[in-house]
Amino acid sequence: MQAIVLVGGEGTRLRPLTYGTPKPMVPIVNVPFLARTLERLYAAEIRDVILAAGYMPQAIVDYFGDGSQLDMKVTYVIEETPLGTAGAIKNVEEHITGPFFVLNGDILTSLDLRAMRQYHHEKGGIGTLHLIRVDDPSPFGCVVHDEAGRVSRFVEKPPKGEEPTNEINAGTYLLEREILDYIPPNKNVSIERETFPQVIAAGKALYAHTTGDYWLDLGRPEQYLAAHRDVLNGTMPLAVEPGLSGDGSEALRGHPGVIAPVHAAADVVVDASAKVGPNVVLGRGCSIGTNAVVRESVLWERVSVGAGAFIEEAILASGVTVGPKAHVSKGSVIGHDVSVEPGAVLEPGARLGSAPP
Ligand code: GTP
Repeated sequence: MQAIVLVGGEGTRLRPLTYGTPKPMVPIVNVPFLARTLERLYAAEIRDVILAAGYMPQAIVDYFGDGSQLDMKVTYVIEETPLGTAGAIKNVEEHITGPFFVLNGDILTSLDLRAMRQYHHEKGGIGTLHLIRVDDPSPFGCVVHDEAGRVSRFVEKPPKGEEPTNEINAGTYLLEREILDYIPPNKNVSIERETFPQVIAAGKALYAHTTGDYWLDLGRPEQYLAAHRDVLNGTMPLAVEPGLSGDGSEALRGHPGVIAPVHAAADVVVDASAKVGPNVVLGRGCSIGTNAVVRESVLWERVSVGAGAFIEEAILASGVTVGPKAHVSKGSVIGHDVSVEPGAVLEPGARLGSAPP
């Protein structure tokens, strides 16, 4: 079985983080998200992965190479211009040998891919779509199906109060090769808005596989922080122990200012008077100064927090320096290598960092 992972998007909603790191390489608890996705594929015995990339592909290629270190085969197909979610699949056609999974590259989920494969074989359709139920389906693509699971209709982003169902497209598909016949080549095509409705109109069977799994789209900063909270608290099962975890946990154990859960890389330096946690991740080379406070935040690599600084519900990319007594307010997102001036007070939801020249 093969899998195509869609990793070509620009990740505009995660800017300025995605000016320096493509969204699939954004770390989830100190490991690039795409590495976690490949681990999940490996666990489901999928060893042949095609990455449909486009935006900043080199960062992805440099990290995974040909996949041999993961005991996988990783093939890259890079789009000159974005082809959309179906166009990207059509673009890798020459590498597809049979039924294949398609994964949106920014979904954190506990979905059991093996169970989905079993369901797909039982149903025998041209494709199976993973669905989940949400309280508010209006920002998503609703999928309507009958009792046997056969999909009859797609409704994209319905107005509030007019949602036909609370089951939404969760961004994982298992498709037969035949579906490629429904996608025109070299064109920007959306699978959810164009291809799936056309397949149904042609009388082909698509089936819904609705589960109660953990599911989160990492597209926005609030969701990125929520994902960390859920992993650190054990709500989303990932290979991270709740409590104090990471190679740096020994250094933090017994530290009077640390409130679990906190995950820290091996070489972090946290002053004895600093307060860190709950729900904080510190990447390699981070240092937290005297009387500084860091809560509910994710710090990538080499982030330096000055004495008396305060950071709450924020994301700080690699190489950020926060000056002494600076205040990084809730919802702030700070891009690579930005320096926050000593004593600066950021507005809630501040975005600091610009596109590279
Ligand atoms: P935003 O710009 O913030 O909307 O993010 P995005 O560009 O990643 O778009 P979106 O979240 O809708 O994309 C969902 C998934 O599909 C992500 O994993 C993207 O990388 C991927 N994706 C979106 N458009 C394309 C495309 O044109 N080509 C490829 N190969 N992947 C895409």
